[in-house]
Amino acid sequence: MKFFVDTAEIDDIRDLAETGLVDGVTTNPSLIHKSGRDFLEVIAEICDLVDGPVSAEVAATDYPTMLEEGRKLAKIASNVAVKVPLTPDGLKTCRALSQSGTQVNVTLCFSANQAILAAKAGASFISPFIGRLDDIATDGMDLIADICDVYANYPELPTEVLVASVRHPMHVLQAAKLGADVATVPPGVIWQMFNHPLTEKGLAAFVADWQKTGQTIL
Ligand code: E4P
Repeated sequence: MKFFVDTAEIDDIRDLAETGLVDGVTTNPSLIHKSGRDFLEVIAEICDLVDGPVSAEVAATDYPTMLEEGRKLAKIASNVAVKVPLTPDGLKTCRALSQSGTQVNVTLCFSANQAILAAKAGASFISPFIGRLDDIATDGMDLIADICDVYANYPELPTEVLVASVRHPMHVLQAAKLGADVATVPPGVIWQMFNHPLTEKGLAAFVADWQKTGQTIL
């Protein structure tokens, strides 16, 4: 499973990139707003830090303007994945950008039928939002299972399942069990995945016993 970081905070991305565990980054207008940064500048900086796809979302909702914005975003760096909403105009934009060789992440997916449409439009990634479904008492993970099942029937489809709106480590584990291609995860949740009290306890005991041997390795 690939890990994308779901943030526009450069320091958080840098810290995680140093672990070697980051395969890409996703942003959205809300994350850009939260960062307080200039959109185009911050996307360029993220693309310098991370080799994998960096999602940058269009702001318009009509096809001609989305396409123009998408083309501008794609020029920032070769690893920009243009993010478009799952609307008829968004999928028209997806088709046009994909045909010209730009990676496209189709966002705001809440049903398997929408995921089928995005795949037919040539999306590189489909982003089902599981946390927002959980918030309305609908199991987001059922949607991931459905999309993975449907896509498995058509192995020629170019679209990777990018699990979005991840809220906690169990979301990541469940998505991995279902075989989702990618999870985009907030930095705090990635750090939470490292934690286990028995790891901390065991390491403290090993460090203490090693000191008692009086030996050094280096
Ligand atoms: C990522 O591409 C999405 O924009 C993000 O995961 C949405 O998460 P949220 O539902 O926590 O805002």
